[in-house]
Amino acid sequence: MPFRSIFVAITISSALLLAALLINHARPENEVLRPLPELVSATGRCAQCHRQETPAIVHQFERSEHSRANITCLDCHQPRERQEAYDHYNFRLAQDVTSLNCRSCHTTEYEQFARSRHALPAWAAVSGTAGMSPEQIALGERHHPGAVDRPANLLASLEGTAATQTGCLGCHRIGQPNSDGSIGSCTECHSRHSTSIALAREPRTCGQCHMGPDHAQIEIYTESKHGALFEAQRASLDLDAEPKRLTTADMSVPTCATCHLSGLDGLRVTHDTTERLSYWLFAPVSERRPGYERARTEMQETCLRCHASTSIERFYAEAEAVVADTNARVREGEALMAALRDEGLLTEHPFDEPIEYLYFDFWHYYGRTAKHGAFMGGADFVQWHGNYELLLTLTELHDLAGELRDDSAGR
Ligand code: HEC
Ligand code: HEC
Ligand code: HEC
Ligand code: HEC
Ligand code: HEC
Ligand code: HEC
Ligand code: HEC
Ligand code: HEC
Repeated sequence: MPFRSIFVAITISSALLLAALLINHARPENEVLRPLPELVSATGRCAQCHRQETPAIVHQFERSEHSRANITCLDCHQPRERQEAYDHYNFRLAQDVTSLNCRSCHTTEYEQFARSRHALPAWAAVSGTAGMSPEQIALGERHHPGAVDRPANLLASLEGTAATQTGCLGCHRIGQPNSDGSIGSCTECHSRHSTSIALAREPRTCGQCHMGPDHAQIEIYTESKHGALFEAQRASLDLDAEPKRLTTADMSVPTCATCHLSGLDGLRVTHDTTERLSYWLFAPVSERRPGYERARTEMQETCLRCHASTSIERFYAEAEAVVADTNARVREGEALMAALRDEGLLTEHPFDEPIEYLYFDFWHYYGRTAKHGAFMGGADFVQWHGNYELLLTLTELHDLAGELRDDSAGR
């Protein structure tokens, strides 16, 4: 071969090699490093079709931190151990993408979440142990004795499956046991494709479930000084700030997440929303939780990033006084109901007589509202939606009890 041809051949192949290198360089690193051809350029191939089929999902994904970190569609959609899979064009996809798929990269968040009341206790509150393995029951019971190994909720059974599936479980599914052995759903707060922390820090996100008269947290927050400030100043808050470096300069006003999850100014971030709670406020009569002291200190440390200790101590003392008062009122109603049962005026079934529904509203709506209002700065909820209603319903309960006694005595 003449010298010139060799020179041309070398030049052309070097140019081709360089071009190939440049093209590869432009591709996300994890696509280049993966050996299987069907994995190469996974997101690109999924997006080719899905830009037509489900364009919003691709747009949502493109906004995510995942897309910036070169995580592909397949990183989440590929089957992990124990997951059922199916063929989708040239790919193997998981039948259900669950918290197991997230766990493979976010173990710490998964483990904190899985031991919280957002996990198995939330599911058991409606469905009991349905769908749980013995190991899951044991895990749940270790962290929350009595809150997991319990029967399905009676009210849910009375309402039936249709109501429970879209009603109760619409909120309580956050803790469902998945068929692959994992627990719960991360996407209730982060969404599936934008997987955003800003979204999870929005009060409205928590308020999808934490609303209404039985757990009026979003309404209470909206009424509180914190809620009003958040609305007024949100443009100057950085909801995207990186969790491990979150400071009061990013968030000088707290949202639900700040008090219950975030690690403000060097405090620890947690996905266990149970850690900072000192009372069982949702219970009819609220006792202190086993970790009362530690939980109280952890929550107060968050308050103290923004407040002085004297005002926080006063705030807690006043809230605990509301808990004590509410407990006393609820005990009075409880004793009345127990007496009616002893006298044979009520059946053992808790939901077959009108007075039982009134009693349920008494502690479940008004009792809880008063206690939650006191701990989250909602004056109107302590007062008009709480204590006033408690007084009114207690009077009605006594009145109805009198009627039942009169009827039975034939008066
Ligand atoms: C050749 C086109 C094509 C490719 C490539 C493709 N999809 Fe799809 N995908 C579709 C169509 C069509 C549907 C059905 C849409 C509908 O029902 O409206 C679908 C549906 C889905 C669904 C919904 C569940 C189901 O199976 O119906 C998921 C999840 C999904 N695709 C994920 C992916 C992922 C992840 C990739 C890449 C790894 C991918 N797809 C690649 C065309 C494609
Ligand atoms: C962070 C993980 C994650 C990534 C990355 C991801 N997905 Fe998904 N995707 C999910 C989850 C979770 C679901 C809900 C699955 C379920 O319910 O079984 C889902 C559902 C879907 C569905 C069905 C949606 C519906 O409402 O019917 C489609 C289609 C889909 N994904 C396509 C894609 C495509 C295309 C990409 C890449 C552009 C992608 N996904 C990237 C987690 C992810
Ligand atoms: C293949 C690994 C991988 C999988 C699977 C995965 N992630 Fe991620 N995730 C990452 C990486 C990498 C980042 C960005 C870097 C970081 O912050 O660690 C990230 C960031 C995040 C963030 C922070 C986003 C932000 O705005 O800063 C959230 C929230 C998140 N992931 C949730 C999820 C959820 C929910 C799932 C499952 C549906 C999931 N991830 C699945 C690797 C993964
Ligand atoms: C999809 C519905 C849903 C969303 C979204 C949700 N939660 Fe919950 N949350 C629940 C349910 C259900 C429970 C009750 C669990 C139980 O005790 O049975 C609960 C319980 C709690 C508890 C009490 C835990 C305990 O130990 O008693 C706190 C605190 C909490 N959530 C905070 C939050 C915050 C903060 C957010 C937003 C960042 C949020 N939740 C988002 C459904 C949700
Ligand atoms: C709008 C969302 C939502 C719906 C619908 C809902 N719940 Fe809840 N539930 C919650 C939240 C949030 C809590 C936590 C309240 C708290 O800690 O203050 C909770 C708490 C509970 C608790 C007390 C905590 C525990 O673990 O014992 C029980 C029991 C319960 N729910 C059962 C049900 C049943 C049964 C239904 C349907 C008949 C239902 N819930 C419907 C959101 C919901
Ligand atoms: C109750 C709502 C909620 C649920 C459920 C939830 N998260 Fe989060 N997550 C948040 C909030 C709020 C933050 C931001 C915390 C903060 O303000 O610093 C966050 C932050 C994160 C981050 C960023 C952490 C960091 O330090 O950079 C990751 C990753 C993440 N979540 C993954 C998950 C995974 C995986 C699951 C399921 C096992 C999950 N999340 C379930 C609310 C939630
Ligand atoms: C300023 C801090 C702060 C903010 C903001 C805040 N909370 Fe709370 N929350 C508390 C405190 C304090 C308690 C009572 C803690 C205890 O039991 O020691 C509490 C109690 C709760 C409980 C009651 C758990 C039980 O025992 O029944 C739930 C659920 C809850 N908050 C959810 C939310 C949600 C959802 C939002 C936003 C809409 C929110 N919180 C906003 C501080 C806050
Ligand atoms: C991220 C900062 C931040 C955190 C955390 C925080 N707060 Fe606040 N809080 C504020 C700001 C800002 C105001 C308005 C103060 C002002 O006007 O100077 C406020 C106001 C209040 C007020 C109303 C005072 C008034 O003007 O009537 C109370 C009560 C309160 N906070 C209690 C708490 C408690 C209790 C906690 C913890 C459970 C807490 N806060 C956590 C920032 C915070």
